[in-house]
Amino acid sequence: MRCLGILAGPRKGHATDKLIDTVLEGLKERGGEVEKISLYDYNIKPCTGCCACHKTGKCAINDDYHIVRDKVEDADVVVFGSPAYWCNVTSEAKKFMDRSGVLFEMKTMGPKRTKDKPSKVVLVATCGAPFPLSHMMGIIPGVMRAMKEMFCRMNAKVRTIYAAGMMDPDNSLPSKRLMDKARELGRNI
Ligand SMILES: Cc1cc2nc3c(=O)[nH]c(=O)nc-3n(C[C@H](O)[C@H](O)[C@H](O)COP(=O)(O)O)c2cc1C
Repeated sequence: MRCLGILAGPRKGHATDKLIDTVLEGLKERGGEVEKISLYDYNIKPCTGCCACHKTGKCAINDDYHIVRDKVEDADVVVFGSPAYWCNVTSEAKKFMDRSGVLFEMKTMGPKRTKDKPSKVVLVATCGAPFPLSHMMGIIPGVMRAMKEMFCRMNAKVRTIYAAGMMDPDNSLPSKRLMDKARELGRNI
């Protein structure tokens, strides 16, 4: 079982990254072969809206997107995480998702994934506002909705986990209880 973690936030070793790592730890414990990448290490240009992907199945832009796409298509499990930036995903996450038309075939009801992999997806979100403000203000729902819009169109079982209240950029980390939950999610997905 190949498991790919994708950090879509810029800060390695911080809340979003830690939560992704912990889900991956759980996956590793059940025998998964784990790799983690950061979108910020790749040069992914914005979608130009040419829609070549819908006509030819290929993206017309030649950059690092294709490296990440190959990894996603090779993975059985994808763990994708973004911090909330203005109630939405980060710009790198959005660029990656906009370019991912190539993962789908255009049908009358919109994009549809016709391949089986990845069969499981874990979506990870973090935000500064504490619970329940994180939800009353639509922050975590906003990040999750943006990610689900794409990942729920895959033939995959989608699970989610979030950490709210990550207010202090230097010191905030998910609680032990939440990390245990993330590890359990990885073990049991
Ligand atoms: C540009 C920017 C925008 C942000 N927007 C929000 C927001 O809309 N709501 C919120 O609760 N936190 C917001 N935050 C805080 C981050 O979501 C929060 O600190 C997150 O946990 C950081 O994740 P990291 O530690 O993995 O980088 C924002 C932070 C930045 C840098």
